[in-house]
Amino acid sequence: MTSHIMPTYGRLNVAFTKGEGVWLWDEDNKRYLDALSGIAVCSLGHAHPAVHDAICAQSKLLLHTSNIYNIPKQEQLATRLCQLSGMDNVFFSNSGAEANEAAIKIARIYGHEKNIANPAIIVMERSFHGRTMGTLSATGNPKVQNGFAPLLDGFVRVPFNNIEAIETALIEHNNIVAILVEPIQGEGGVNIPALDYLNNIRSICDQHDLLMMLDEVQTGIARTGAWFAFQHNNIIPDVCTLAKALGNGVPIGACMAKGKASKLLTAGKHGSTFGGNPLVCAVALAVLETIENDNLCQQASDKGEAINQAFRERLNNNRHIIGVRNKGLMIGIELDKPCTELVGIALDSGLLINVTGDRSIRLLPPLIISKEQIELLVDTLSSLIDSYTKK
Ligand SMILES: Cc1ncc(COP(=O)(O)O)c(C=O)c1O
Repeated sequence: MTSHIMPTYGRLNVAFTKGEGVWLWDEDNKRYLDALSGIAVCSLGHAHPAVHDAICAQSKLLLHTSNIYNIPKQEQLATRLCQLSGMDNVFFSNSGAEANEAAIKIARIYGHEKNIANPAIIVMERSFHGRTMGTLSATGNPKVQNGFAPLLDGFVRVPFNNIEAIETALIEHNNIVAILVEPIQGEGGVNIPALDYLNNIRSICDQHDLLMMLDEVQTGIARTGAWFAFQHNNIIPDVCTLAKALGNGVPIGACMAKGKASKLLTAGKHGSTFGGNPLVCAVALAVLETIENDNLCQQASDKGEAINQAFRERLNNNRHIIGVRNKGLMIGIELDKPCTELVGIALDSGLLINVTGDRSIRLLPPLIISKEQIELLVDTLSSLIDSYTKK
């Protein structure tokens, strides 16, 4: 059958019809353990009653008005996000890329206010910030950029987890206004930087009067065992972007700002028709409430440790394993060879996983995953990795 969808994705040959908790069912009623959560989106699992109830209740009242009117649910959500993060205000978008576009625009205005005519942002190798022209230009992956020249100007790229490279860039360029970085690189291969990396970036930004901008689209909202990954470092960025898990499946993005960065996007400078409408904000409020009531930050931290430990034990004798790493329930298992094939093999065995950076198996299970489900995940995947690496 001819598909009328643009072929932008190499899709796996499966379609899901329903979900519950960590489970998904396909059209033949085969059951799968979802260890990917729609790429860090459905942290509360599928068909969570709190999300379902919020959608039903809000859709009976009002789905959408416009940002030219007050939206009380949006106010409530912004207040809650600021309470949780220590940030000052929020712009709501519909996706992670759009949240990052807002961040890039904030950096540009910040530069112009400092009389820098061609402001530039330091960005990282192997980063991923989205697929719009601005965010793909910021992204450090030629596969994402190829074919789309001319790219947007104003990005200076340095290696991830390398403070010296940032310092050198600051000597070589006198137009840097901000640093944009993921606390842990997700698409780049679950790359976890040195413990003090973010602290050092914070100090450099303070010293040089730069905006510290964190892309927490994947790490944010409890995934790493804290509401925001920057909280592991006891710092606060000037800008922090969110999306994915904030809506548990309804499209919402957010660009949070603090201090000087919070005053730059004034009336007429930015906007969105759908961004922060009553429906998505009602759902996001329910998501935050559930994470808090069920203590899911702590659970993500504890379960992440348990999963890491279990994989290390199970894969101890497999010499093809380079490393098992995690921060909360953001987990990477790196092999010494490309392993994208494992995604299809796992699918056949009823397990949804993902591979990033060619050799790193990425697991982003729902935060509500149970002990028994963790055991099943570790058992199934370890056996698959063992037989795959023996080939
Ligand atoms: C760190 C990061 N930033 C931005 C994005 C883009 O988000 P979206 O696909 O919602 O535009 C992603 C998506 O994977 C991401 O992981």
